[in-house]
Amino acid sequence: MKTLDQADVQGKKVLLRVDFNVPLDNGEVAWWEDWRIKATLPTIRYLLERDARVIIMCHLGRPEGKPDSAFSVAPLAQRLATLLQMSVKKLDDCIGEAVQQEINALQPKGIVMLENLRFHPEEEQGGVAFAQELAQLGEVYVDDAFGAVHRAHASISVITQFLPSFAGLLLAREVQELSQAIQNPHKPLAVVMGGIKIKTKEPTIVNILPKAAHIMLGGGLANTLLAARKVAVGASLIDAREVAENKFGFSINDPKILVPLDVTVSTADDGQKPFREADVADIHADEMILDIGPKTISAYAQALAGSGTIIWNGNMGKSELPDCSNGTMYIAQAIAQTGATSIVGGGDTVAFISQNGMMDNFSHVSTGGGSMLEFLAGYDLPGIAALQ
Ligand code: 3PG
Repeated sequence: MKTLDQADVQGKKVLLRVDFNVPLDNGEVAWWEDWRIKATLPTIRYLLERDARVIIMCHLGRPEGKPDSAFSVAPLAQRLATLLQMSVKKLDDCIGEAVQQEINALQPKGIVMLENLRFHPEEEQGGVAFAQELAQLGEVYVDDAFGAVHRAHASISVITQFLPSFAGLLLAREVQELSQAIQNPHKPLAVVMGGIKIKTKEPTIVNILPKAAHIMLGGGLANTLLAARKVAVGASLIDAREVAENKFGFSINDPKILVPLDVTVSTADDGQKPFREADVADIHADEMILDIGPKTISAYAQALAGSGTIIWNGNMGKSELPDCSNGTMYIAQAIAQTGATSIVGGGDTVAFISQNGMMDNFSHVSTGGGSMLEFLAGYDLPGIAALQ
């Protein structure tokens, strides 16, 4: 990849693509959710120090190709302004005459943020004319949106046809850390995976399994695998189609794949009904798995001890419920205590460690969710390929 140190940005209008896509809380960025914004500050500061005029492009949510005030990037501009302690003007659109005029008036060391790119359907369609219109706003393109490099969108993989294009400091670091972890890890390599859908994590498991000593599963992922192994998981969230088809791309009985031995269950997932610890062989038909249990935590902690590298993506249960956060909390602590090179990613997982003041306990906190998984699955990602 061409990287920022090779770019001439001095005094230039720089189009900076970032991924500030975080869930909003009452229309605002919650204090524990600004990690994606913070992660791009080194690149923004690098540009400002070189008198660049910074034009930030980003998306928020999935507004389906039309303007929708619920998906305005205004709260993101506001948070960025607070973090940088300077004004960040949010423009009303991302292309057009009025936007062009605002950018023409932008002074060196000034920042504006374009409105949500996804208000135009051409963004997600990878529209060439739309990419060209965006490109006309700047002189150099810098991509720091690691979280979105798996999308072949206009502002990610098409715009690079029209401008000198470079990876920002965050994107370069993500690629370096994740490449090292997957291609040349300090061994043994251990992987912890949780979250809801097995479908999105399956290609990653397939690619990592030959290199890993253990892959430990939690969350809906583990439920689905338990169900595939014919364990009665009651009313737990599973991917029933995956279980019925039973085509996982890896052996579900591979001894390197560890699944829960015991779990926290309840008859409801809203925290309103009592919880109990149960061995996985003893889950009632009306109960659902909401966390991993103490025997599992200790088995996983044992498998993690002595690891050279640990990759973690996905929570161990419904960790937003205090009674179901133990698994994720103990796994986070166990990973940090090993002293291994530790890579953590996934929106819910990073939000969890951010909320619990643990952001500095890991070697690298990735800003990627789907992109991290696809990178680790060994896929060629359009946003990275476009910079090569
Ligand atoms: C993410 O949050 O994973 C990225 O911003 C991509 O968002 P998307 O899945 O809506 O394309």
